[in-house]
Amino acid sequence: MTVAAAPARFTGRTALLTAAASGIGAATARRLAAEGAAVLVTDLDARGARRVAEEIRVGGGRARARHLDVTSPAQWAEAVTETESWTGRLDVLHLNAGRNLRGAAHELDDDAWHDQLRLCLDSVFYGVRASVPLLRAAGGAVVITSSVHAAVGFKGFPAYAAAKGGIDALVRQLAVEYGGQIRCNAVLPGSVVTALWAEASPEYKAQAAARAPVGRLGTPEDIAAAVAFLASDDASFVTGQNLLVDGGRSISSQE
Ligand SMILES: NC(=O)c1ccc[n+]([C@@H]2O[C@H](COP(=O)([O-])OP(=O)(O)OC[C@H]3O[C@@H](n4cnc5c(N)ncnc54)[C@H](O)[C@@H]3O)[C@@H](O)[C@H]2O)c1
Repeated sequence: MTVAAAPARFTGRTALLTAAASGIGAATARRLAAEGAAVLVTDLDARGARRVAEEIRVGGGRARARHLDVTSPAQWAEAVTETESWTGRLDVLHLNAGRNLRGAAHELDDDAWHDQLRLCLDSVFYGVRASVPLLRAAGGAVVITSSVHAAVGFKGFPAYAAAKGGIDALVRQLAVEYGGQIRCNAVLPGSVVTALWAEASPEYKAQAAARAPVGRLGTPEDIAAAVAFLASDDASFVTGQNLLVDGGRSISSQE
């Protein structure tokens, strides 16, 4: 028996990624490009997006960058139009924008609550709505970056949990709605060292690592690998799922 090398899973395919100038989004852009995808790297931080796209091109991949504020439906329409005119298709939509606003319910004002939902949840709706025609034509896949906060309660994050929890139901709804045309799944990262963790103390990081049965914090590449799986044909029989990628944090009773 000859064992053939696994083919690049995204050759000839196009991916649009949001919040991809750093962290999980950037790692996923690199991963999909390394497996053959043409990647449109978008972010509110246009310079950061250009830096990631340039790095991918220098490494021999195919990438473009553009500014995209995911809370703007008008900018979504422009980004999808650019994707279509660039490669003529959209196979993978990675909806990754988010930030965890801290504040118990009695401490949040209306604006803070609505900003959090706009960034983490409304943006998913805007992105999917704008992309459905191209995704349908390609038989594409949507992967959303949710959070372990959608599955487990943590003190001090009601708006973030509500927004990510909304994704939990939306994923199932989209999977049912678009059936065999577009698969839709989410990853729920646990503690992953990115810019979001910039202010965490070494003690806090050590505690977080100890709470996960695998005994370490996650890397952006850990999450990128799960996103790539869900976006690929390896997951062609997987839709409507919220996949915890948290080193077992959510199934452990450790405090
Ligand atoms: N890092 C973790 O521990 C962790 C855990 C669970 C879930 N997540 C989720 O992962 C996703 C990525 O987070 P990360 O840790 O890689 O963070 P990060 O800070 O490294 O990257 C976030 C990116 O989002 C961009 N951004 C912010 N507002 C935007 C907007 N309106 N439009 C477009 N881009 C915008 C920023 O410019 C930045 O590049 C988020 O949805 C976050 O909620 C992260």
